[in-house]
Amino acid sequence: MPKLLEGKVAVVTGAGHGIGRGHALELARHGAAVVVNDLGSTIKGEGKGDDAARVVELIWKRGGRAIADFGDVGDEGDVEAMLARAWEEFGRVDILVNNAGIVRDRAIWNMTADDFDLVIRVHVRGTWLTCRGVAQRWRAEAKQGDGQVYGRIINTVSGAGLLGNFGQTNYSAAKAAIAAMTQTLSLELASIGVTVNAIGPGGLTRLSAGVSGQAEVPEPDERDPETFDPKDPSLCCPVVAWLASEEASYVSGQVIRAIGEHIHLMGGWTERASVSNHRQRWDATKLGSLFATDIFGVRAPGLRLGG
Ligand SMILES: NC(=O)c1ccc[n+]([C@@H]2O[C@H](COP(=O)([O-])OP(=O)(O)OC[C@H]3O[C@@H](n4cnc5c(N)ncnc54)[C@H](O)[C@@H]3O)[C@@H](O)[C@H]2O)c1
Repeated sequence: MPKLLEGKVAVVTGAGHGIGRGHALELARHGAAVVVNDLGSTIKGEGKGDDAARVVELIWKRGGRAIADFGDVGDEGDVEAMLARAWEEFGRVDILVNNAGIVRDRAIWNMTADDFDLVIRVHVRGTWLTCRGVAQRWRAEAKQGDGQVYGRIINTVSGAGLLGNFGQTNYSAAKAAIAAMTQTLSLELASIGVTVNAIGPGGLTRLSAGVSGQAEVPEPDERDPETFDPKDPSLCCPVVAWLASEEASYVSGQVIRAIGEHIHLMGGWTERASVSNHRQRWDATKLGSLFATDIFGVRAPGLRLGG
């Protein structure tokens, strides 16, 4: 099999289960050494465990190289320790996949402030902390060398953050923030050659099964490799491996959903309708008609003489 990531070093967060586990195995299959991070918490972010160790074992068994990290991506000290160890162990990091995630779904009238804070902490702060950690190191390396480094960041968004989803004000806000952070980071890191994109995965995992109430779910490596199942959460992993590769050097600031056998390039916020008041302040009493005709287009404007 041709390998896309021979000699590269990757950090994958939340790689003990589900989609992240699929990413870690796929990147390793393509030749990358992998730092397998996972706090080992429940889908609601409670507790901790050594789930990352099982994935590291699998990678070594398959002939790859990996180390486990049991840190919390929302904790500044844990993230710094993980990155310091990655640089110490492998000499550098080329690829960062931010995947760790939890859910605490409830309609807003039942959601506690803790449910909100923890989901934002893991997804937004967790993604930001790891991005800052690699950005600082890559910038220093670029300054010492020819101004360029090999750097790929792939963040994880969700349809909930792009389109909204009932019961997920915390999670959708977090995922929308990650999409915006991805675009901004792609601008900030472009001059040193780093690309930053986001993947929107899908499929049956502990996390999505928790939402739909299903009990046991197979991990990506426990599935029959010969059978195509559109709910296999690792179907997005080849897209992540490709985004992490040399070939994808021209792709940055993009949000790509990869679910089942489909790949969707998502479009960001764009102006759907614009009006100008020609350097004058708006009059609120005149806006009703303007919105109906020129913004929402729900009322015919009628004949307009003289432009
Ligand atoms: N499953 C889906 O359909 C779906 C759809 C869209 C987006 N996503 C996103 O994909 C990512 C992976 O989700 P999954 O479905 O594979 O869930 P999962 O529960 O199988 O895996 C998430 C992993 O993140 C780890 N984790 C949680 N908090 C952590 C922390 N603070 N530090 C480090 N690790 C932590 C968990 O221990 C777990 O192993 C998440 O970001 C999720 O929001 C999933």
